[in-house]
Amino acid sequence: METIRKCKDTANVQTELIMPGHTNPIGNLMGGNLLCWMDVCSGISAIKMSRHIAVTASLDDVSFKLPIKVGDIVILRSFVTRSFNTSMEVICEVFIKNIRNNEELKSHEAYFTFVALNDDGTPVKVEQVEPETEREKELYENALERRELRLVRAGKMKMVDTVVLKNKLV
Ligand SMILES: CC(C)(COP(=O)(O)OP(=O)(O)OC[C@H]1O[C@@H](n2cnc3c(N)ncnc32)[C@H](O)[C@@H]1OP(=O)(O)O)[C@@H](O)C(=O)NCCC(=O)NCCS
Repeated sequence: METIRKCKDTANVQTELIMPGHTNPIGNLMGGNLLCWMDVCSGISAIKMSRHIAVTASLDDVSFKLPIKVGDIVILRSFVTRSFNTSMEVICEVFIKNIRNNEELKSHEAYFTFVALNDDGTPVKVEQVEPETEREKELYENALERRELRLVRAGKMKMVDTVVLKNKLV
């Protein structure tokens, strides 16, 4: 029997203090370190959702427009936007916290896809997630188009087999 889970049940928050060992030669956080934290933060959301081990299948585009400096506090927030059969889309947002006024500035955002695995390492069916807020509903609705786009780009789906993308092109 399928159980419905709320997006908020899958929410995860991770806080990091940027130390010299995390940075490049000009004192900015190295992109690879940020991606590692985003992957772990999102992965925990996927595990909360599926209650199985979940592996990263893909990561959509990430731009490094805003530098994160040594001494900054960084907050990562993630939750499952939509689950499909064995895979789940997770949004991970990154914020730089201003320690003087407590304000947060959003610096990065990415969509990860995780696949839930059984103990024998084969993909296992995941439950459905139910969006509640307006934002969660919008992310849920648009997740289908993002999924088709990433599967076409990965060579896992033919354009002719898409539903949302095909309709957009005609
Ligand atoms: C992810 C993985 C389990 C998919 O295995 P697979 O044999 O391609 O399995 P399937 O074709 O049956 O696909 C399983 C699910 O993965 C999804 N998937 C596969 N490749 C994907 C990709 N590039 N992007 C997004 N989703 C993908 C499929 O859409 C499917 O989802 P669904 O069941 O919800 O429809 C497999 O490729 C793997 O183990 N990769 C290594 C994962 C890993 O180690 N990650 C850590 C980073 S190195």
